[in-house]
Amino acid sequence: MVSRIIPVEPFDLVIFGGTGDLARRKILPGLYRRFCAGQMPENARVIGAARGALKDKDFRELVSKAIEEFVPKKRQDAKTIKEFATRLHYVTVDATGTDGWDALAKLVRKDVVQAFYFSVGPSLFGDLATRLHTHKIANPDARIVVEKPFGRDLESAQALNAVLADSFDEGQIYRIDHYLGKETVQNLMAVRFANVLFEPLWNAQYVDHVQITVAETVSVDGRGAYYDKSGAMRDMVQNHLMQLLCLTAMEPPSRFDPDAVRDEKLKVIRALDEVPADNIVRGQYGPGEDVDGYVAHSQNPETKTESFIAMKVDISNWRWKGTPFYLRTGKRLKARSSEIVIHFKQTPHSIFGEDAGSHDNVLTIRLQPDEGMDLRVTIKEPGPGGMRLVDVPLDMTFADALGPEAEDVPDAYERLIMDVIRGNQTLFMRGDEVEAAWAWTDPIIAGWTKRGDRPQPYEPGSSGPEDALMLLHRDGRRWREIRK
Ligand code: BG6
Repeated sequence: MVSRIIPVEPFDLVIFGGTGDLARRKILPGLYRRFCAGQMPENARVIGAARGALKDKDFRELVSKAIEEFVPKKRQDAKTIKEFATRLHYVTVDATGTDGWDALAKLVRKDVVQAFYFSVGPSLFGDLATRLHTHKIANPDARIVVEKPFGRDLESAQALNAVLADSFDEGQIYRIDHYLGKETVQNLMAVRFANVLFEPLWNAQYVDHVQITVAETVSVDGRGAYYDKSGAMRDMVQNHLMQLLCLTAMEPPSRFDPDAVRDEKLKVIRALDEVPADNIVRGQYGPGEDVDGYVAHSQNPETKTESFIAMKVDISNWRWKGTPFYLRTGKRLKARSSEIVIHFKQTPHSIFGEDAGSHDNVLTIRLQPDEGMDLRVTIKEPGPGGMRLVDVPLDMTFADALGPEAEDVPDAYERLIMDVIRGNQTLFMRGDEVEAAWAWTDPIIAGWTKRGDRPQPYEPGSSGPEDALMLLHRDGRRWREIRK
């Protein structure tokens, strides 16, 4: 595989919340890796901005430590970390006051690509956006990057969009959903739209159903305060699973460009049916032998927050009417495994008779870990004994097929930050898309809140509550097993 690093223009990237958790875990280690890959030009700089009274040298030290902690050891090199640190600067800034803004204005260059990463709570977005203008820091082409959660319902998302729109055009706003930066998620588009093989079958006529699973083994320990207010629906379904659903279900965009792709995704969201209560299963992990249950991680002993959700979703358009999409995600499950399973219909008539049993083709796209695809096809079982049929996998693990470079793919954040510098919004959510996703999500949450539904307990290390299995069983289907 040939590695092609596309150089980017010189830039100043200001990270508000530059000493925070996300910056230390993801953004700064990601930038370091791009630096190692030779993608940061000579005069590109990263400016940390936060409340703490740090000097450049303190920030450089903090970042070096973050790299040591969060970049795999084999990718660390003391000399390169030192060189990278020379690109780092720091300004103490009060997001809601006046301190530090003049210093920032002096530091940030006007004649390079400017990007401002709002790695702070959404309540500060408005303050930051306004001050970038009043202190005449942002040039007309400046980009701002905002993280999820983008609101907690339609109303708050609209308010956030309005606040940002007061200071920046939509073309300058980069709303991150890090799932879109994952290599395998982008691969979904390549598989669908760069092959003639799948697209003709990619519809209700040939697809029986689709399963989208994002299973995690982690708990919410340490994040209880956030998670209590969010739950799996807001934390994972409204954004990450919704994006996977859109990329799986959308019509082919006419070009791989930001608005063409986002227009198609938006159409899918708008075509989603309301989800009736009996098509939703919510779960909450209980305690296990040596592990705490959700309640112990929550701030509220009476918590009704779901750490698991499974649902059956219908899309009302010509392509998908009649083909359900089953979504499922949860914490503290059996394994960390994310995949999209396209379950094709059986042949209209079996020439081999009933004894041959029932067989169907299944395409599984493994997003993480063990990225790859496998297609289950039916063949003749070798040997004598008549025409017996057996299903075998055509397996393609990317690491095997593409060699070692496939194992060294950029982390989602690396890719996305470089896209911001390049000015490419294809893998970012547009304002109307986020609002449409909330418009679909809100009545679902309102429904279970009004009914006072409690999530069902499930065993840590399991596949979720029993009822989640029933959601498919009652339709004569079965989830693909969650496995390592
Ligand atoms: C985040 C959620 O957006 O995504 C977390 O807030 C979740 O709860 C995480 O664990 C999953 O991301 P990944 O990249 O580990 O699949």
